Amino acid sequence: MPKITVNGVEVDAPDGQNLIQVAKGMGIEIPHFCYHPGLGVDGNCRLCLIEVEGTPKPQIACNTFVREGLSVRTDTDRIKELRRAVLEFFFLNHPLDCPICDQSGECLLQDFYMRHGQYESRLDLPKVHKRKAVPVGARVTLDAERCVLCTRCVRFCDDVTGTGELRIVNRGHHSEITVHPGRPLDNPYSLNTVDLCPVGALTSSQFRFKCRVWFLETTRSICSGCSRGCNIHLEQSEGTIYRYRPRENQEVNRWWMCDDGRSSFHVFNESRCEAPLAGGEEIPHSEAIEKIIDAVRKARERDPAGIAMILSPEMSTESLYAARKFAREILGTDRVRAGSFAPPFVEDEILRKADPHPNRRGCEMLGIWTDDLGSELERGGPLAIVVQNDLAGPSPEAGKRLERFETVIALATNLDETTKRAALVHPVAPHPECDGTFVNFQGRVQRFRKAKPALGDALTVMELLRRIAAGLGTEFGWVNLNHVWKEMAVEVPELEGMSPTALGDHGLPIRSVREASGATVEKG
Ligand code: SF4
Ligand code: SF4
Ligand code: FES
Repeated sequence: MPKITVNGVEVDAPDGQNLIQVAKGMGIEIPHFCYHPGLGVDGNCRLCLIEVEGTPKPQIACNTFVREGLSVRTDTDRIKELRRAVLEFFFLNHPLDCPICDQSGECLLQDFYMRHGQYESRLDLPKVHKRKAVPVGARVTLDAERCVLCTRCVRFCDDVTGTGELRIVNRGHHSEITVHPGRPLDNPYSLNTVDLCPVGALTSSQFRFKCRVWFLETTRSICSGCSRGCNIHLEQSEGTIYRYRPRENQEVNRWWMCDDGRSSFHVFNESRCEAPLAGGEEIPHSEAIEKIIDAVRKARERDPAGIAMILSPEMSTESLYAARKFAREILGTDRVRAGSFAPPFVEDEILRKADPHPNRRGCEMLGIWTDDLGSELERGGPLAIVVQNDLAGPSPEAGKRLERFETVIALATNLDETTKRAALVHPVAPHPECDGTFVNFQGRVQRFRKAKPALGDALTVMELLRRIAAGLGTEFGWVNLNHVWKEMAVEVPELEGMSPTALGDHGLPIRSVREASGATVEKG
């Protein structure tokens, strides 16, 4: 690695990085608007100025790349003065409507003024006014006055989606962002422009005015909208999920996520199953457990091999593993299958995958996936335990086939067509309310963290099955994620050598994928 010097400190800097990246790695902030690692260098904002030894004029850090012997300063009086001047220029026509701006609290213009500006305002001329609160597409709202003309949004639509909806029109201080007439910003990745926009010029029409960002609590999670498993920040306040934002993972989703995935959290806020039900009436949790135990006992006495445990590719790997073990050791059946009747998602070359589930690969890894769940239901039996799987909603035919079971128990996150058909329903926690992992279509095991408490009487699948097993005389030691992993990492060859700690924030490929690529994994 080349040696360079930043503010008098010599460092080994990775080849190919620019000075914004190197400085960031050293904990030094070089303020900037137009540069983004996913969009490359444009050099239009001129805020990232630095002094380069041997060059008389200040240079832009975004276009200054690592080379042996390079020496730069980011902290001279001249640079500080220039930054203040550039920021003052950005504020000339800025409306300063921070109190009513949705970007407040995560706005780079605010942040940079507080950290690098702090000058006295000298403006005594009227500001140029532009269009405010204009929908530029179904999901994005533009406030043209707040725009700093960094062109990140334009370049995203030109270079990432290739849809080219956005342009800058007019000259000088009348310049503004707009869409081409008749071509709204409606591409399936349009909300990434909102993330990219450093100010409150582009905001999410769905999120606007719903919650101030400083009330949001952020958790590292995974989108469950399709088998890509984009890495996300899940943001909630007082138990309500307000937003998903992409979290960088170069192996999976780079810096982006799709708009449908972003909206997929609503299912965790709405129509939730919060209390156990028997015949459609709410019953206490303890009574529900007793009834489930009783139903299992009776079915076991009659025909254990006929009991079916129907799982779902929406379940975490840990829940799937626990349910498979429960089926084999407690129910005494091999009829443990995961499948789905959900219609396919739209697939494209950017991120979206046709498989609409986050963990089909996990089901395959555990040997329980079936493409023909209909035949399994057709067989009927004394008892079906359906976990996190709305069979009847997308497939009325599957709903009919459920009638071939004498008793149906649904362990469900939401009230749906399947819970309507179940004699007993117990709420279980969906992935925002648990710790766990999904295995994405690439065979990458990715961790999500519990973002909020489970709603009402909901328990994790693992905990609920543990309590039912205990009532039937078997103690499983599944208290938390690490306990299940201790078993799984031994029993599931694809997970050998892995642990929740080793997965880190970006996940790891399962063994066969690792071996195919020649990669190794450090034990955690
Ligand atoms: S709308 Fe936002 S991202 Fe687009 S040019 Fe303006 S400031 Fe930049
Ligand atoms: S591509 Fe799939 S995983 Fe990624 S955000 Fe969209 S739905 Fe979610
Ligand atoms: S980030 Fe360097 S000129 Fe804008």
